[in-house]
Amino acid sequence: MNDTFLRACRGEEVEYTPVWLMRQAGRYLPEYQSVRSNIDFLTLCKNPKLAVEVTLQPVDILGVDAAILFSDILIPVEAMGMRLEFSDKEGPVLSEPVRNKAAVDRLIIPDVEEDLPFVFDAIRMLRKELEHKVPLIGFSGAPFTLATYIIEGGSSKNFLNTKKMMFQTGQVFQYLMEKLTDTVISYLSAQIKAGAQAVQMFDTWAGVLAPGDYKKFAFPYVKKAISELKKGGAPIIYFANNCAGILDEVKKTGADVIGVDWRIDFSSAIKKIGKKTVVQGNLDPCALFLPKEKIEDRVKDILWKGDAAKGHIFNLGHGVLPQTPVENVIALVEAVHTYGRRE
Ligand code: CP3
Repeated sequence: MNDTFLRACRGEEVEYTPVWLMRQAGRYLPEYQSVRSNIDFLTLCKNPKLAVEVTLQPVDILGVDAAILFSDILIPVEAMGMRLEFSDKEGPVLSEPVRNKAAVDRLIIPDVEEDLPFVFDAIRMLRKELEHKVPLIGFSGAPFTLATYIIEGGSSKNFLNTKKMMFQTGQVFQYLMEKLTDTVISYLSAQIKAGAQAVQMFDTWAGVLAPGDYKKFAFPYVKKAISELKKGGAPIIYFANNCAGILDEVKKTGADVIGVDWRIDFSSAIKKIGKKTVVQGNLDPCALFLPKEKIEDRVKDILWKGDAAKGHIFNLGHGVLPQTPVENVIALVEAVHTYGRRE
């Protein structure tokens, strides 16, 4: 197996900078569209055979150095007792959002192996399929990002309901965060047990918090989850989107790898993070709409900056957009492999 990605996660010497991409499986790939044309998104997530198929597509088409399980961060939220739907226009919709203590009381901490068997079946199948290829990454949402979906009932512009709960009924918010943290710990532990060789926690909305609020309302739960998960032995990647204002806290979470978005200069981020943690990032997903030579220039710049870190895993600063030309994504992976080679 090509274990370059795993060695980079641990800060070991590598022959070249490994690369994988957030949302590397998905709508920009015609092969994904073809599977998806016969099945809705949630049913696809719950069908191990098809989830395995779409997980493997980017490994074969792009030549990335890791696979990421095809699923969604809201799958365990449904198992907590909420009704989940995906609408083509609005994205995820959770009817009956959680806004008070009684609603938090009703949320179940799922028995993940019992309630989400398709996730672990897919992981076990993937490990067999990937035996001679690349490592498998498992994932979950971070507690705060999951809380925003549960409280808002879907995506949000200013997260008013979330912040109202934080500021007006802090104990209810804390109670919700504790339930979510327990769920994330048991969900990711079970993924590691089933065979995930690294796990990433996505904190997509962490950056909407003022630094002091991140410190109080999000950080302690991430830190707790990471310290528990480290017992499983697999590297933990923490991606906090829009991290520039909160990096001083993010670097204290204990994550083995910190994912960095593109809104901060990679050198500045690395300077702040220091020499003890591997970094992952940080190309603007929209840079994939540049001509190929310009994509190469940006890759070289990020690789050069990444050299200053303990270790670097190349990634986008957020997920691949559905409109992205596949040939440019292939060119990106090739450029990282060409220019990221050590002499
Ligand atoms: O990265 C991968 O290739 C693995 C699969 C993956 C998906 N979602 C598939 C998906 C992963 C890791 C996620 C994580 C996820 N899901 C996050 C965190 C990462 C991020 O993007 O910030 C979040 C916030 C979600 C919630 C979610 N799921 C939203 C807001 C949406 C709608 C917007 C969109 O991009 O479509 C989804 C749907 C979703 N998740 C799709 C895919 C492939 C599109 C569904 C479709 O086929 O129509």
